[in-house]
Amino acid sequence: MLVLGIETTCDETAASVVRRYGDGRGEILSDIVRSQIDEHKDYGGVVPEIAARAHVEVLDHVIARAMREAEVGFDRLDGVAAAAGPGLIGGVIVGLTTAKAIALVIERPLIAVNHLEAHALTPRLTDGTAFPYCLFLASGGHTQIVAVLDVGNYVRLGTTMDDAIGEAFDKTAKLLGLPYPGGPEVEREAERGDSERFILPRPMMGRAEPDFSLSGLKTAVRIEAERAAPLSQQDIADLCASFQQAVVEVVADRLRAGLRLFRQRFGGPVALVAAGGVAANRSIGRALQRVASESGTALVIPPPRLCTDNGAMIAWAGAERLARGMTDMLDVSPRARWPLAGKGAAA
Ligand code: KG4
Ligand code: ZN
Repeated sequence: MLVLGIETTCDETAASVVRRYGDGRGEILSDIVRSQIDEHKDYGGVVPEIAARAHVEVLDHVIARAMREAEVGFDRLDGVAAAAGPGLIGGVIVGLTTAKAIALVIERPLIAVNHLEAHALTPRLTDGTAFPYCLFLASGGHTQIVAVLDVGNYVRLGTTMDDAIGEAFDKTAKLLGLPYPGGPEVEREAERGDSERFILPRPMMGRAEPDFSLSGLKTAVRIEAERAAPLSQQDIADLCASFQQAVVEVVADRLRAGLRLFRQRFGGPVALVAAGGVAANRSIGRALQRVASESGTALVIPPPRLCTDNGAMIAWAGAERLARGMTDMLDVSPRARWPLAGKGAAA
């Protein structure tokens, strides 16, 4: 089964062709990602209007390249998938409308994929991970702990009350004068910093419910930065290290709570899986490894390229849905907000 996947929900324009074999294995035939970081850099964050326009300009070329590299013609596709949300609505409209046009012309099914579901199903593409598993999704827009029970069956165990973890990294970077996107910059600075110099809060630590709250931590960094101003290079490194250490400890504690809840409700889990750009952070990765081994759980972190936004995850989620006959009508609407699952709800 061959599926073309299109991703335009944020600042990456991406397209990919993925093959799903009858036994459930997947293979990436092409995976083209065109990042808009340069367009947004001057603004310190993604500007929705600029993002939508940039998607319009490059999407056709990105799709053409994905098809060329996969060495398949449109007539060979079994379905066309696009991320229909959640995300910046202008970009979502561009990707979904393009997918509808292709599906209409080649007379194949359209699959409207939830972007979060695509992150959630990626370990099945990269590692063949079996259901059920516990997902830690941490990106610039989302921070959730989710029980992944089956395709289309997700239970949210925990989420953030305010900022996403990636957002907290980005905002911390911005207030310290580091460029966007801030996550990798903060990680780099933290390597030569003293993580014990600044005493920062560990919000939500010790609570039974595996939820997060990060805006207080970000504010605490701001207060410390103002107190230490003007900041030397070493001050910046120490603030980054102290911030990252606080996040690492919070993540480890929240995941322990998440795994506990998962076990109570569903038994298992077979694996702890991380996805989203933040999963590329090595200190966080090591914390995940500690939590997983403590609880005798396997840890799966897809390669960084497939942790951050990409087209292959959309094509793969489309293929998983198509294999189960879960397709969509051409009048399906793009959605700015589209929760993967309500809290505690099994559906
Ligand atoms: O999943 P992603 O590519 O895009 C979405 O937000 O959907 O995640 C991007 C986020 C940004 O906030 C970025 O700062 C963060 O992931 N990030 C990191 C690292 N690499 C990317 N955060 C911490 N450490 C990193 N090494
Ligand atoms: Zn994402």
